[in-house]
Amino acid sequence: MITGKFPSLRLRRSRKNNWSRRLIEENNLTANDLILPIFLIDGKNKKQSISSMPGVYRYSLDKLNSIIDKAIKIKIPMVALFPYTTKSKRNYLGSEALNENNLVCKAIQLIKKRYKNEIGIMCDVALDPYTSHGHDGIFNSDYVLNDETINVLINQALLQAQMGCDVIAPSDMMDGRVGAIRKALDKDGHKMTQILSYAVKYASSFYGPFRDAVGSKNFLIGDKKSYQMDFRNKNEALREVALDIKEGADMVMVKPGLPYLDIIKSVKETFKIPVMAYQVSGEYSLLSNGINKGFVDKKIIIESLISFKRAGANAIISYYADRINEILKI
Ligand code: PBG
Repeated sequence: MITGKFPSLRLRRSRKNNWSRRLIEENNLTANDLILPIFLIDGKNKKQSISSMPGVYRYSLDKLNSIIDKAIKIKIPMVALFPYTTKSKRNYLGSEALNENNLVCKAIQLIKKRYKNEIGIMCDVALDPYTSHGHDGIFNSDYVLNDETINVLINQALLQAQMGCDVIAPSDMMDGRVGAIRKALDKDGHKMTQILSYAVKYASSFYGPFRDAVGSKNFLIGDKKSYQMDFRNKNEALREVALDIKEGADMVMVKPGLPYLDIIKSVKETFKIPVMAYQVSGEYSLLSNGINKGFVDKKIIIESLISFKRAGANAIISYYADRINEILKI
């Protein structure tokens, strides 16, 4: 494989000049590679900062246009919507998930009415933004029930599809939910609604700031280890992906991102399907706070994002997506 030999071969020759480095670059990043997560909040005229995620905000619906306009202008292909839910709208069953007037439903309708198909919308299917215990499903005092949860997730997915959501993204890690959702979508006339499965989602401490952003932080009882994956495992990730492909997933996600580049690579090489990586809130928070404190250079952002491409990701969900043009200029 490796040919040539020093001194006739000098790899530094092609690294010497900027034009030459640009010529031989193997990976690159554009706005097409990014999905922008957006946090929604009730109320009016709100663009609320999130202390653990400097530069990221929660938007009230009347302020949503400002961020969607920007995403479209810089050619981000898709946004992912996440609701902040106050305690008063949370309950044991997470029934706000099925309220057709909830924040996510209203936001989907607003965006689709104004922007049509100029930008894709992806929505999480999971109950954690709405439950009083912070778990992704129906919680039976110490265990999240699988099949009972799927029945609710099907309805949540159907509601999102009916509102106009383009990409349904089950992020709950219940067994068998992708197949059940695909079947229900087809039956309800949503054959063209895509499914992006959070197929490989690890039980991770990197989600901390997100739970703050959606208001789940102080509610979570225990941990999510009985449904999210053990970070010691790799073969299990391939089994998860294999199952979700069979069940009808159009794309799969690996999450978190940076500590799991090996998983992205294996999934891509094994299955040759579209793979998304999620640069999660904890990654964002560590990078941004390190930059703000002057401990690391801003170039750390592009270096991290390119690593996903090198590993084989087709696109990256990143809280930096709306600032990609500035990042590429650094
Ligand atoms: C909900 C969900 C989580 C994230 C995305 N969807 C948190 C969790 O599972 O606890 C995390 C995203 C991030 O940290 O940026 N199921």
